[in-house]
Amino acid sequence: MPIPINGLIAYILAMSIGNPDLKQKILAYDRAVPRYTSYPAAPLFQADFPISTVTSWIDDLPQGSKLSLYVHIPFCPKLCHYCGCFTHITSRYAPVEDYAHLIRREIASMGRRMQNRHIVTHLHFGGGSPTMLHEQDFRLIMDTFHEFFAFDDDAEIAVEVDPRHMNASLAQCYAESGVNRISLGVQDFDDKVMETVNRVQPFDVVYSAVQNLRSAGITKFNLDFIYGLPYQTVRSLTRSMDYALLLKPDRFALYGYAHVPWKKKNMRLIPEDSLPGNAARYDLFNTGAQVLEEAGFRPIGIDHFVKNVDDMAEAQDAGTLGRNFQGYTNVAPDALIGFGVSAISQYPQGFAQNTTASHDYQEAVLHSDAPPIAKGYSYQGQDLARKEIIERLMCDLHVNIRDVWTRHGHDLEHLEVCQTLLAPFVKDGLAILDQNGLLTVPREARQVVRIVASCFDEYLLPIDTEQRHSMAV
Ligand SMILES: C[S@@+](CC[C@H](N)C(=O)[O-])C[C@H]1O[C@@H](n2cnc3c(N)ncnc32)[C@H](O)[C@@H]1O
Ligand code: SF4
Repeated sequence: MPIPINGLIAYILAMSIGNPDLKQKILAYDRAVPRYTSYPAAPLFQADFPISTVTSWIDDLPQGSKLSLYVHIPFCPKLCHYCGCFTHITSRYAPVEDYAHLIRREIASMGRRMQNRHIVTHLHFGGGSPTMLHEQDFRLIMDTFHEFFAFDDDAEIAVEVDPRHMNASLAQCYAESGVNRISLGVQDFDDKVMETVNRVQPFDVVYSAVQNLRSAGITKFNLDFIYGLPYQTVRSLTRSMDYALLLKPDRFALYGYAHVPWKKKNMRLIPEDSLPGNAARYDLFNTGAQVLEEAGFRPIGIDHFVKNVDDMAEAQDAGTLGRNFQGYTNVAPDALIGFGVSAISQYPQGFAQNTTASHDYQEAVLHSDAPPIAKGYSYQGQDLARKEIIERLMCDLHVNIRDVWTRHGHDLEHLEVCQTLLAPFVKDGLAILDQNGLLTVPREARQVVRIVASCFDEYLLPIDTEQRHSMAV
C-alpha cells in the first residue's frame, strides 16, 4: 500500500512531537489494572448469587425506567488470536440457530416479568459476531424485542459487525429492522499484523461493508482499532488509520491490546517477541490519537474519538457521558439488561451475570422463567461513591472526589487512604488535586487514568492484579 500524504505528515509530526519526560513518568507507573467498564470489576462478582435478589431488583425498577439492552452472540467462524471476547468458533449454523431460539425465550421471559413498564433507549448486539446470525433469525429476535418491550422513537439500535460477513442483503435486513448504528471490527489494515493475528481483512472488504451499509441507509459508524498488536509500528498504524479515515466514520475506538494469555489460550499463538513493549505502545496510542485529532475527531474518555457534532461529544460537554460493559455511552440508562451467555446486567443495586456454560444456559432458559444468572454482586459499603469517582475519571478525566464522597454520606477520613495512593501521581504531575478536592488527570497523561482510578478501588489486591488484568498503557 502506498502511504497517503496525510499519514506521512502525521508520522513525521508524531516522531517530532512528544514529551519524553512525561512518557518516562507514565511508563514508570504502568501496571495491570481493570478496564473499569464496571466497579467493582467483574472478577469480584460472586458465584451462587441468589436469583431471587436479582428478580427483586427487576421488579423494583420504577415504572418508565430507561433500559439499555444487550444481546451477546458468542459465535465466530474463525478465531482472531488477539481476541479477548467470550466466543466459540463454529462453521456450522445449527448451534447459532438453536441459540437464537434460546435468546428469544430469554427476551420473552424478561419482557413478561417487566410487563412493558419501561422504555428501551438502547439495544446493542455484541459478541462474538452478531453477523453470524442469519437474516431470518435476526429479524425474529427483533420481532420478539418489539413484542415485549416499548422502544423510544430515538432508540439507538447498534450491531457489532465483522466486515468479512457483510453483504447488501444483510445490510438491508439491518436497516429494515431499525438498526441505526454500526461498529465495525477493523483493528488494523497492515498485512503482516493481520496475518499474525489470523485475521486477513483487506481494505476493500471493509470498504465494501461500509458501502453496503450506507446504501441501505445506515450512516452512523464506529471503527474499532487496536494498538499494541504484533509487529505494529507507528508507521504501519498511521498508514492504516489514514486508510480508515477514507471511510469517513463518525467515531473511532482505539483500544489497547489487552494481552492476557494466562486467561485466553488463543493469545499464546501470538509470538511474545512480536508484541510492542510498553514504550512502543505509548507511542502507538499517541500517534493514533494525533492522527485522529488532526482529522477533526475529539477525544472521549481514554480510547474513543468522535466528530464534534455527535451525541457523545454533547454528552461529554454536558458531563453526562457514561461507561458500561459496551464502553462509553451518551445516555446513562436506569438499568442495563444483558441477554445470552456471559451477558452482564446492571441494576441500581448491583450486577448480575448470566452463566457462561452453554448447557446451563439452555437448561435455565428452557425450564424456568427466572434469568439464567450464575454470578452477581450487591453494592455495599463505599462501593457507590468509589464507582462514581472511577466512572467520572474514566469519562471526564476529572471529578471532585470530596463532593462525591460527602454526597454519599461517607466520612472524609476514609478518603485519606486514596489520597495517599494518589500522592506520587500528583507529585509527578500526572494528576492534579486542588484544595477543594477537584482531581484532574491532564489529557496528555490519559494513559494513566486507569491507574489513577485504581487508587479508589477498594478491592484491588496487589498480589492478583498481574493475573487478572491487562496492563494500562
Ligand atoms: C466482539 S468484537 C467486534 C465484532 C466482531 N467480532 C469483529 O471482530 O469484527 C469487539 C471488539 O473488541 C476488541 N477486542 C477484542 N479483543 C481485544 C483485546 N484482546 N484487546 C483489546 N481489544 C479487543 C476489537 O477491537 C473488536 O472489534
Ligand atoms: S475479534 Fe471478533 S471475530 Fe475475532 S474472534 Fe473475537 S469476536 Fe470473533
